[in-house]
Amino acid sequence: MAPTVARSTIDITPLRQANLPIIFILGGPGSGKGTQCEKIVNKYGYTHLSSGDLLRDEVASGSERGKQLTDIMQRGELVPLDVVLDLLKEAMLSKLSTSKGYLIDGYPREVAQGIQFESEINPCALVIYFEVSDDVMTARLMNRGLTSGRVDDNEETIRKRLDTFHKHSLPVVEHYGTKCRTISAEAHPDEVFQKVSEALETLS
Ligand code: AP5
Repeated sequence: MAPTVARSTIDITPLRQANLPIIFILGGPGSGKGTQCEKIVNKYGYTHLSSGDLLRDEVASGSERGKQLTDIMQRGELVPLDVVLDLLKEAMLSKLSTSKGYLIDGYPREVAQGIQFESEINPCALVIYFEVSDDVMTARLMNRGLTSGRVDDNEETIRKRLDTFHKHSLPVVEHYGTKCRTISAEAHPDEVFQKVSEALETLS
């Protein structure tokens, strides 16, 4: 049974009414989501929200909700969908007055997350999926683990994160069909970004 984590009450009416473009960024662990999002923000100025960063911030805050998350993330499993959605809603609302659109990195991680997000907030405009082999993702994360200090950048957790990705997150790509652009992301980050830019130009 999924663990219970505390929820909060959030009025998202202003968010729904603003109806800003929403872009979901998908990819396995270490596929380069964060790297590419930084480049997208520099060029297009969207508001970048990483579900993983929001969860790590919550853990670092020492809150009751955060305490319940550490174990789940250390096991490479998915945090309950309501918790992630609450964090996203809070972050989206807090940036609403200055945002021209949202880049949601690492979300949805399972089909149910996408369905819940789109029914409670608004449909996404585009989904970008970074395709990278498990071997390349593992090598990148092992390398990053030398300095990142992340509790999940170790061999055992990376293996579990990959399992979770294949089992729960890959079906999301299929779920979005033609709304999802698959980009091969093993080349140099600048080459990958070239393809990302082409996908984003279709929005304007
Ligand atoms: P999260 O923080 O989202 O981690 P992740 O998906 O495992 O991805 P990473 O942030 O590790 O990698 P990335 O794809 O951003 O790659 P990066 O650009 O950093 O999630 C952590 C945990 O939180 C999850 O396991 C889960 O427990 C929980 N969680 C998060 N979201 C959730 C959700 N929606 N629902 C439920 N639970 C959730 O690059 C990695 C490395 O590769 C870097 O060193 C980088 O320099 C290098 N690199 C990047 N691109 C290239 C390239 N093209 N060539 C060579 N090297 C590259």
